[in-house]
Amino acid sequence: MSDPNLDKLNQLRNQAQLGGGEESQAKQRAKGKMTARERIEVLLDRNSFRETDAFVVHRETNFGMSEKKYLGDSVITGWGTIDGRLVYVFSQDFTVFGGSLSRVHADKVCKIMDMAMRNGAPVIGLNDSGGARIQEGVVSLGGYADIFLRNTLASGVIPQISAIMGPCAGGAVYSPALTDFIFMVKNSSHMFITGPDVVKAVTGEEVTFEELGGADTHNSISGVAHLAAESEADCLFLIREMMSYLPSNNMEDPPFKTTTDDPLRMDAALDSIVPDNPNKPYDIKEVIHHIVDNREFFEVHEHYAQNIVVGFARLGGYSVGIVANQPMVLAGVLDIKASEKAARFVRFCDCFNLPLIVFEDVPGFLPGVDQEYNGIIRHGAKLLYAFCEATVPKITVVTRKAYGGAYCVMNSKHIRSDLNLAWPTAEIAVMGPDGAVNIIFRRELAQAEDPVARKAELVADYREQFANPYVAAQWGYVDDVITPRETRPRLINALNMLQNKRDHNPPKKHGNMPL
Ligand code: HXC
Repeated sequence: MSDPNLDKLNQLRNQAQLGGGEESQAKQRAKGKMTARERIEVLLDRNSFRETDAFVVHRETNFGMSEKKYLGDSVITGWGTIDGRLVYVFSQDFTVFGGSLSRVHADKVCKIMDMAMRNGAPVIGLNDSGGARIQEGVVSLGGYADIFLRNTLASGVIPQISAIMGPCAGGAVYSPALTDFIFMVKNSSHMFITGPDVVKAVTGEEVTFEELGGADTHNSISGVAHLAAESEADCLFLIREMMSYLPSNNMEDPPFKTTTDDPLRMDAALDSIVPDNPNKPYDIKEVIHHIVDNREFFEVHEHYAQNIVVGFARLGGYSVGIVANQPMVLAGVLDIKASEKAARFVRFCDCFNLPLIVFEDVPGFLPGVDQEYNGIIRHGAKLLYAFCEATVPKITVVTRKAYGGAYCVMNSKHIRSDLNLAWPTAEIAVMGPDGAVNIIFRRELAQAEDPVARKAELVADYREQFANPYVAAQWGYVDDVITPRETRPRLINALNMLQNKRDHNPPKKHGNMPL
């Protein structure tokens, strides 16, 4: 015999599963997109999702809205696990009013954000929305602001991840922008303050959705997004993978993962990876792959400011953040974009107890009118500030060049790096031999009988005396000079040594970093 109470519950539950209805769901799938629920299923461990607020409906009465109500409204919220670890999720449902943000939509998101903060677990937001619920007006704007406040208060307390899986426009972009990492799906996600039509009306520029705010644009040109996925499923798997490197909150250590890769493994290939000619490039990612556990490097911001490389890896099972100059691109120079990219990553690692490993091969800051006019001084200072401020274990390996201000900035001993190692190929000085000789021997060269030959002599002499790691080692500014093959065991040993590191900044409300 059926129980009317249970029947009612089942009927409501089934109704809630349908979102905006079968027709709207079919439309969503016809665009090659998953529904909001399907995305949650792929993101979380099987059967781990527990939903909240599935019976919530909007309260708008204008514009005939009383007749159009959908259980759960335009977002699905709750918690579940990734690799057995708790995460909170919201997934905007485009089949209900285009996923637009109503008052109750915002309330649902705020509720799980508050729970995530209280219980110390990450929030993952899957965004697919037409923005503010137009029918609700300012009430919707208020809902956004409530979320922005929570994003900001949660920053540095719990990891916040955003995936853009459809439109994300207008002020709505600022919630993802306040989170730690933004993932986008190629060809189906868009972020912009104003769309192509408004751009055309205001500036006359003609631009497509994809050109203005697609995954490629934000991953390679604006730097707003950190990862570009080939498909929605790929995006959700990438989020799962990233979570494996992160702690659940700022009071926890990152997960330790036992590795089959021998911590004492030496890699002879590293000994010859740096070319004899100091002006010849090599791929720093190759260096990273040779050193980290099982060659696994989870790169973020891969397509932006490629002269610096950042990402997560493990060393002897410890999760670490890696920052590395890339000699293959612009000789690894520090410019505005590279400084900002690395600064934000360093701060993320410091928030979440991820030790920082720095591979340094930097000829200096990029000279030029464009860089100066756009504030390389201010932006470069961000990276300096970030490294100075960081109190997590900090280790630097100088593989080749460490010149000028960039020597100080790239986690030098003077700014509280715990261990600085140099390869024998390291050149640590105020500037490269060529530039140095031009300045300090200007008068002598002007008077020399054969200035070219004399300069070659002076450059060779300078290189011999200063372009090596030993002057810095004599001062104790590098702690040791090591053979490249030893790097992996030395880094793992250092991470063990630094396991109980405790360092603090002076008490203050907050610093005033150069923004
Ligand atoms: C209410 C909305 C909506 C919205 C879409 N819908 N956006 N309902 N408020 N913001 C509804 C549509 O009416 C439609 O309902 C359904 O969702 C699907 O939308 P379509 O237009 O049919 O889908 P599509 O062709 O894929 O286009 C998607 C879209 C477009 C590009 C997102 O809907 C759009 O331009 N929407 C408006 C975007 C916008 O201007 N939002 C306000 C931005 S300002 P039916 O019933 O027909 O299926 C903003 C401020 C935030 O967000 C400020 C924060 C501080």
